[in-house]
Amino acid sequence: MIMLNNISVIFDKQTALQRVALDHVSLAMRPGDFITIIGSNGAGKSTLLKLIAGEVRPAHGKIFFDSIDVTHVSVEERAAYIGHVYQDPRLGTCVDFTVEENLAFAAERGKQRGLRLACNRKMRSLYRALLKGAALGLENRLSDKAMTLSGGQRQALSLMMATFQLPKILLLDEHTAALDPKTAKNILAVTKKIVADHHITTLMVTHHLLHALNMGNRTILMQEGKIIRDFDEATRAKIKPEEMIEYF
Ligand SMILES: Nc1ncnc2c1ncn2[C@@H]1O[C@H](COP(=O)(O)OP(=O)(O)OP(=O)(O)O)[C@@H](O)[C@H]1O
Ligand SMILES: [Mg+2]
Repeated sequence: MIMLNNISVIFDKQTALQRVALDHVSLAMRPGDFITIIGSNGAGKSTLLKLIAGEVRPAHGKIFFDSIDVTHVSVEERAAYIGHVYQDPRLGTCVDFTVEENLAFAAERGKQRGLRLACNRKMRSLYRALLKGAALGLENRLSDKAMTLSGGQRQALSLMMATFQLPKILLLDEHTAALDPKTAKNILAVTKKIVADHHITTLMVTHHLLHALNMGNRTILMQEGKIIRDFDEATRAKIKPEEMIEYF
């Protein structure tokens, strides 16, 4: 169970640029919840994800992972529990590393052993099988540097890396927004499969209303730093995407 209790995030506090990005937000995520997040630009969606990852700190309020207060736990310490995929395909991978090295890095994250161990034959066939699932030809690119991959291929690799160690929570911030429709569809299908196979608690930000209403089991709507609606699966099934636009 992941809980946010009465969280506010204020940027540039006590300056002329002060901005309340999250305004008294509370949210309880049940294990296995797959929550989609919608809302206008600047509503606080990315800030909410960064708050959970520890990349931004709250002015007040508390964050709990399984009843443990992690509000003051560092990004590095939280990283073992979190998978984060961003909108920009360049952010999730190390561009100078090969596909295999990137995956080995994800496999060894939080462990003491070096990269070498995660690059053996057994691991290589595991990586190949994982990459094949994305249907983007990545399984034949293990020794290519990540910088040579297309945006879609890099996002697929980022997703594999973010979920390799089965995080407590997967944070997806418009992770298909920069991709062509067919590649976006592939990545969403892979996302659905990984999340369903391993029951990973997931938060997915999207501006695509149809995706938001069709994926996962719950949709929250944000406006000006607040969660203004929280739709369960049954309620959201009755809503047409175009009806959502009035909330923006
Ligand atoms: N590092 C920062 N410093 C100052 N202000 C910030 C910072 N990050 C976000 N903000 C402000 O906080 C508010 C919420 O931003 P956020 O990025 O969370 O919005 P969003 O809902 O993800 O928007 P979008 O749909 O455009 O991605 C915005 O007003 C933004 O300008
Ligand atoms: Mg954002």
